[in-house]
This record gives sequence, C-alpha cells and structure tokens, in this order.
Amino acid sequence: MKTLVIAAHPNLSGSNVNKTWMNHLNREEDVTVHDLYSKYPDFKIDIEREQKLLLEHDRIVFQFPFYWYSSPSLLKEWQDVVLAYGWAYGSQGTKLHGKEFMLAVSTGGPEAAYQSGGYNHYSMSELFKPFQAMANLTGMRFLPAFVEHGVRTLNQEQVNESAEALIRHIKADF
Ligand SMILES: Cc1cc2nc3c(=O)[nH]c(=O)nc-3n(C[C@H](O)[C@H](O)[C@H](O)COP(=O)(O)O)c2cc1C
Repeated sequence: MKTLVIAAHPNLSGSNVNKTWMNHLNREEDVTVHDLYSKYPDFKIDIEREQKLLLEHDRIVFQFPFYWYSSPSLLKEWQDVVLAYGWAYGSQGTKLHGKEFMLAVSTGGPEAAYQSGGYNHYSMSELFKPFQAMANLTGMRFLPAFVEHGVRTLNQEQVNESAEALIRHIKADF
C-alpha cells in the first residue's frame, strides 16, 4: 500500500512536532511526504500534478497543526482546486473512489479541552466533520485520525515517540 502524506505547516522552521513527524515519515518506504507550503509558497497549486500524486497512492493523509479548529489555509486552497467537479465528485468524478483517508493533527490545546464541558466545547471527531464529509463525497473511506494534543509541553523525546506512534498508525490496517 502506498501512502501520500500531504503536510501543511506554514512555518516549518518554527515547528517542533510536524517537522519531526515529517522527518521520521520521510525514512519510511511506501510513504511519500508532500510538503505543500514549500512546494507552493505562492499558493499557486499545480492541479494536474496534485491529481497525479493522488492517483499514485492508496491512502491519503492530511498532516497539519490545528489552526482555528481546522487546517492551515493552503490545505483548504488545495481542497478547493484539486478536488474538482467531474474529477473528485459528481457523477463522473470517481477518481478517488476506494482510497482511504486519514488525518494526522497536532493541537496546542490539551485533550481535556476537546470535549463537552471543556474550554473548546467540541470533540475532535465533531470538529473533523468537514474532512469526513469531504472523504464521503469523494468516495474515500475515512479512517480513525491520529491526534497529538498539548504539543507545546512535549520534550524532544516525547515528540520522537509521537512520530513513531504516528508511523504505526499510518501503517495500520483499519
Ligand atoms: C494561527 C494559529 C491557530 C491555532 N489554532 C489552534 C486551535 O484552534 N486549537 C489548538 O488546539 N491549537 C491551535 N494552535 C496551536 C497549534 O496547533 C500548535 O502550536 C501546533 O500544533 C504545534 O505544532 P508544531 O510544533 O508542528 O508547530 C494554533 C496556532 C496558530 C499559530
């Protein structure tokens, strides 16, 4: 199985978690790490190239730091232009049918914040619904997400452990 990790972090030089995740994932066979912000700093996405990449892989992963309860903006732009009508959805838009889709997300907020009664009120599963709906409409199976909470308090050893846990999750059968 070939896995495409579409990573979206607007400031990788200031990243701790997502950068380490990408470094570890880059060592894995059958995993392609695609760094969106370094590829498209001007937000001008090569749609054909992105669609070809998708077709070459079986499991698609969006990896990003949680920004305002969603993804950084380039990943939204990527969705808007790459997942085109007649290609990814619509009666003729069947190119992604049968693929698997997964999220890999780091949050600043602690796990306890992401539940009813917590200060963010909603669970990650609730906040992920737009991504789940995207997967549904494009015929991809939405797999359990990998989420690392409270990442600002992690030391480097814990971040490395998180990267290894992410790799196990990304390679698991669901
Ligand atoms: C613009 C912005 C928005 C953010 N929004 C959220 C948020 O909605 N929820 C949250 O838990 N953390 C939020 N954070 C914290 C980031 O998720 C956190 O810093 C990131 O996951 C750390 O990953 P990194 O080490 O790879 O940069 C936000 C950070 C920034 C800069």
